[in-house]
Amino acid sequence: MADSAFLKAARGETPQHTPVWFMRQAGRSLPEYLRVREGIAMLDSCMDADLITEITLQPVRRYGVDAAIFYSDIVLPLKAVGVDLEIKPGVGPVIAHPVRTLADVEAIPDLTPEHVPFVTAAVRTLVGELGGTPLIGFAGAPFTVSSYLVEGGPSKEYAKTKALMFGAPEIWQALMTKVAGISAAFLEAQVRAGASAVQLFDSWAGALAPDDYRDYVRPYSAHVLERAGALGVPRIHFGVNSALLLDQMGAAGADVVGVDWRTPLDWAIDRIGPDRGVQGNLDPTLVFAPTEVMLARAAEVIEAGRRAKGHIFNLGHGVIPATDPDQLKRLTEFVQSA
Ligand code: CP3
Repeated sequence: MADSAFLKAARGETPQHTPVWFMRQAGRSLPEYLRVREGIAMLDSCMDADLITEITLQPVRRYGVDAAIFYSDIVLPLKAVGVDLEIKPGVGPVIAHPVRTLADVEAIPDLTPEHVPFVTAAVRTLVGELGGTPLIGFAGAPFTVSSYLVEGGPSKEYAKTKALMFGAPEIWQALMTKVAGISAAFLEAQVRAGASAVQLFDSWAGALAPDDYRDYVRPYSAHVLERAGALGVPRIHFGVNSALLLDQMGAAGADVVGVDWRTPLDWAIDRIGPDRGVQGNLDPTLVFAPTEVMLARAAEVIEAGRRAKGHIFNLGHGVIPATDPDQLKRLTEFVQSA
């Protein structure tokens, strides 16, 4: 396992081939996922160790990717500590009572391993079943998770979140500290049970100007990454629309920085610097192009990645639900043989 291509690249060593996995590789693009999820709410499936195990393994079986990612969601830890929320199909996470006051923040309990026994159980089973394939644990970063808590659901402008950030520093600090603690504890539970790397998803951090990211967000993400790093596993840090944040996302304590498809990979490598690896960054819509077009663009990504300290191939954001699994299979085989 320590010699797996994924872990070698994540540590900045030279792997036998460019390792590949796909963000959101489990889920609606797979018919076998839709079958096991029939009649079961998204978050209920994330609290059932057998279902978590099965759904995590599905894309590994189908594609032979170089890593599994734990099947869960960035809002699952909130649900586990008692926040009233659901994931609405086609919408995303919806929070019944959005956070507005200091009292709202203080009412959210801290996460302990006792809140997530199904996570520990599923990770242990998975590590046995996966053999030499590493399992990536993950959590949502404080800004992205807080944006759902404050907005009450998905958002385009993050106006309420940023109003709190700019206008109510005391509440913001309490909220970010709370969520950072929950995310760190969620990662620790996964790593202690056997996950061999982690990814911190700050999907919506790209909504922030670099100086605001530095002042209001980065210290809390750094706390999460530091606690994961203390357990000795490589850390991937990912955001969307994050070109101007890439240097800071690395410096926050990542071993590998995830790059979205809008950012040229060679430009990103310069920005991130020689001490860290990169992950990414094929445009996820290229799987809808003819296979030879998709593979030609994948070859460019692989070539650009050779200059990095380590390169993990991925899409520039998650798999789009309408994706043809056969295209992802061809893409996986191409990357592994390139
Ligand atoms: O590879 C995997 O599928 C791993 C598991 C995973 C899920 N969500 C499962 C899921 C991971 C890593 C996530 C992270 C996540 N969740 C993020 C960060 C990643 C990113 O895409 O930027 C975010 C922002 C969320 C919040 C969330 N959860 C959204 C926006 C949605 C989509 C809602 C919709 O229906 O359009 C979800 C739901 C979700 N999470 C699904 C899955 C498989 C689909 C739900 C379903 O199948 O009914």
